[in-house]
Amino acid sequence: MWSCITDFFTYETTKSVVVKSWTIGIINRVVQLLIITYFIGWVFLYEKAYQIRDTAIESSVMTKVKGFGIYNDKVMDVADYVTPTQGASVFCIITKLITTENQVQGFCPESEKKYLCKKASDCAKFRNKPGGYGILTGRCVPFNATANMCEIKGWCPAEIDTIKTTPMMEVENFTIFIKNSIRFPTFNYTKGNFLPTITGDYIKSCNFDMVSNTYCPIFRVGDVVRYAQQNFTKLADKGGVIGIKIGWMCDLDKSDDQCNPSYSFTRLDAMSENNAVSPGYNFRFAKYYKMDNGTDYRTLVKAYAIRFDVLVNGNAGKFNMIPTLINMVAAFTSVGVGTVLCDIILLNFLKGAEQYKAKKFEEVSDSPVECKPNGLYLSQLSLRHTDIIMRSSDSGAFSIDPYS
Ligand SMILES: *[C@@H]1O[C@H](CO)[C@@H](O)[C@H](O)[C@H]1NC(C)=O
Repeated sequence: MWSCITDFFTYETTKSVVVKSWTIGIINRVVQLLIITYFIGWVFLYEKAYQIRDTAIESSVMTKVKGFGIYNDKVMDVADYVTPTQGASVFCIITKLITTENQVQGFCPESEKKYLCKKASDCAKFRNKPGGYGILTGRCVPFNATANMCEIKGWCPAEIDTIKTTPMMEVENFTIFIKNSIRFPTFNYTKGNFLPTITGDYIKSCNFDMVSNTYCPIFRVGDVVRYAQQNFTKLADKGGVIGIKIGWMCDLDKSDDQCNPSYSFTRLDAMSENNAVSPGYNFRFAKYYKMDNGTDYRTLVKAYAIRFDVLVNGNAGKFNMIPTLINMVAAFTSVGVGTVLCDIILLNFLKGAEQYKAKKFEEVSDSPVECKPNGLYLSQLSLRHTDIIMRSSDSGAFSIDPYS
C-alpha cells in the first residue's frame, strides 16, 4: 500500500543526450529558427493569430440610380428603367425593351419558328400542349401574307421577340449611389461607407475611381462595367449580372480611420458570357389596364437588363488573450518538431550513427543483470553501476531508485 503511494508521488523527467556535433547542431538551430520565424512572421504578424475574429458581418445596403435615357424617342427616368424600385442591394437597370401592346385573352397564331405549319395535321401533335406564348389549339392559321402558324389560346397577339433593337446607351452615364452600413456584433463596432472625412459637397460632385476617389460612394455604370472587365455595348445588348463587392477588413487594434471599405467589381454570370444557349439576362413583366367594357388588356414587356448585386463581406479582428496563449503554446510545442527531423538525421545519416544510437537507446533485459561498464554504456552507468536498477516505463523514461 505504502509503496503504491510512494510510487505514485514521483516525477519522471526525460533524460537527454547532448550531441556535440557541428552538423547536427547547425541543422537543429536552423530548423528551430525556421519554425520560430514561421510562427512570428506568418502566424502572428501576417495571420494575426493574437486576435479573435468576427466574420459574421451585419450589413444593410441602399442604392439609388440617377440619370435620364432616351429609348424609342421617349425620355426614360428611374421609374421606367430600374426594377425593383425599392433600392435594394440587388437591382436591374433595363437597357433594352421589347414591348407588345394591347394584348387581350383570345386566339391567335404563335410567333416562334418551330410552329410554322402548312395544314392542321402539322399542329395536331401540339394540341393542348404549352407553346411559346400560350396553349396550342391544334389548328393552323395564317400568320402573315406568306406563312401559317399553329394557333394558341392565350394573351394575343403573341410577342415577337426576334426584332432587333438597340440598347439605351445613356445607361453608361447613369450613376449608382450606394449607402452601406455595417456592424461587427462581437465588438459592437459600426461603420458606414461614408467616411467621416467626406463632405456633402464632395458627395454631390464625386465619381468613384480606383485611383483618386476610392471612397466616393457614387459609381458611374460605365466605370463599374469597365472595372468588371466587360464591354458595355455587348453587356447592354444581351444583359448580364455585375457584382459590386464591398470588403471590410478591419483591424480594430488600429485606429478607427484604418477600417475602410474596399470596392471590387466582377461579372457574376460569367457562365452566360461564353454560353451560346442562354446568353445574357432578361425577364418579362406586364402592365395591366381595363377597357370601358371591363375586359383586361395588357402591355407585355421583355426587358434586357444589367443586374447589379451589391455584395458585402468582411471580418474584424481584435487582440484577445485566449488565442494569443493558444497560439504561443502551439508555437513553443512546434519548436520541438525539429527534434524529430534531427533524430532521423542523427540516427541514420550521420557518421557515427551507430554510436549515437547506442547512447540514445539503452537496452535493459527483464532479469537483473550484472552491469559491466563497457565502452558503450559507460556514460550512463558510471554513477553507481553496481547497485542501480533500471526500470523502463513505456514513456521511455528511466527512474533511478537507489534504495532497492
Ligand atoms: C456620357 O457623358 C459624356 C460626358 O458627359 C459624353 O461625352 C457621352 O457622349 C455620354 N455618353 C452617352 C452614351 O450619352
